[in-house]
Amino acid sequence: MATETTTYTLIDGKKVAAQIKSEIVETVNKRKAEGKKLPHLAIILVGDDGASQTYVAHKVKACKEVGFHYTMMRFADTISQEKLMKHIDHVNNDDDVDGFIVQLPLPDHISVEKITEKIRPDKDVDGFTNHNFGSIVSKNPLIMPATPFGVMELLRRYNIETEGKYVVVVGASRLTGAPLSMMLTEQGHATVTICHKYTQDIKKYTTHADILISAVGKPGLITADMVKEGAVVIDIGTTRVEGPQFKNGFALKGDVDFNAVSAKASFITPVPGGVGPMTIASLLLNTLRATESRNP
Ligand code: GUN
Repeated sequence: MATETTTYTLIDGKKVAAQIKSEIVETVNKRKAEGKKLPHLAIILVGDDGASQTYVAHKVKACKEVGFHYTMMRFADTISQEKLMKHIDHVNNDDDVDGFIVQLPLPDHISVEKITEKIRPDKDVDGFTNHNFGSIVSKNPLIMPATPFGVMELLRRYNIETEGKYVVVVGASRLTGAPLSMMLTEQGHATVTICHKYTQDIKKYTTHADILISAVGKPGLITADMVKEGAVVIDIGTTRVEGPQFKNGFALKGDVDFNAVSAKASFITPVPGGVGPMTIASLLLNTLRATESRNP
């Protein structure tokens, strides 16, 4: 009896992010040798959410690795929206800070949209502002939304063709699914379908996808029966699942049932170690671009 062996290529986001970081180090060293200003990233963290603290710690570590200056700004979760806005204004006007981010989620009494829109677009290195969302269709954008840019870069560095391909993005969020769909259309020349919570029968679309991307945050959402044989599968979902069986009491889970889906996929990203490290690499690249534009 013939046994079917499917081999897939693991898309190693950690490795690609390390390559990007070493490219950034070269540029930083060159700027240092020329006596130019070094990039400075500020990180605003409100409250003490465990996952946010972990993500922010990764961002600080990345800044240290590439030789960026960084400033951590922490506030209690009782801070008013008005006070946080004032602080953002202060950072907007601080000439030494080239780029900054406000770590999400924010407490319920603070409007994410109001806070995001307060960030100066040329310092918005997450690429969350409406301005930078719109810059996806610009011929010469300064800053791209970080996670979608990271996904595009992974596809590019693994020579995965998007032009003319059918891509299904599951998840239409303002910060990930929506900008990524636009990037795949505008820059990737793909035919894109976005599935969201109102889509009836997601599987009807996903089973035809040459490239299937999930950005929902629901572990186990994408099962093998939803995937075409030989598809490229990109998992952006990152959910912190707690339980005594995990080291440290929690594990990060993607949207994709990795074991079953990898048997059908040609390329697949793991969680962790896939898209996550690329978001941080994109954040560094955006910060470097912001610095180069402010201080050529
Ligand atoms: N929370 C989860 N991911 C992100 C991110 O990429 N940027 C910010 N600012 N907050 C997040």
